[in-house]
Amino acid sequence: MTWEELENQCSACHKCSLSDTRTNVVFGAGSRSAEVMLVGEGPGENEDRQGEPFVGRAGKLLDDMLAIIGLSRGKNVYICNIVKCRPPNNRDPLNMEQDACIDWLRAQFRLLRPKIIICLGRIAGGVILGGDYKITRDHGKLTERDGVVMTSIYHPAALLRDPGKRPETFADLKNIEAEIRRVCERTYD
Ligand code: URA
Repeated sequence: MTWEELENQCSACHKCSLSDTRTNVVFGAGSRSAEVMLVGEGPGENEDRQGEPFVGRAGKLLDDMLAIIGLSRGKNVYICNIVKCRPPNNRDPLNMEQDACIDWLRAQFRLLRPKIIICLGRIAGGVILGGDYKITRDHGKLTERDGVVMTSIYHPAALLRDPGKRPETFADLKNIEAEIRRVCERTYD
């Protein structure tokens, strides 16, 4: 399966009813040879309209956060979401919608073969890190599974709502930068 084949199949997906209300499938963006994979929750209104992840206010903040640790979507990260279609009124994606969509993310992971996955927010953290994941307790923790480092940070939309969470997120990002320098070979070339 190539990236193009996967994106074409995903763009024609009708596995759940989010496909009835979407404008565009938001497959993913960034470098398809990145060693760092970012996973958010699901598209919002701007993303649905433009077909690109994280293009609204939260996306602008995400780009600023990435720049702090030398990352950029145009260069050395790949960004996608747990669900590829916008949940109406930006509600949390339902479990059945996450379950219907998760194979697309698994396929993206198999093609990218990232060295590190950074979950953005509690939904992605819960799905990917699993167990009794709690963002308030577990953000910034680094774990390794099958040779892939996994971590999570607060979602940029949460940082817009509560700027008080920014200092701890800055600390998480600096730790993650050190980890990227340890496990990645090409990211900071
Ligand atoms: N929030 C997300 O989790 N993903 C996006 O693509 C945009 C906003």
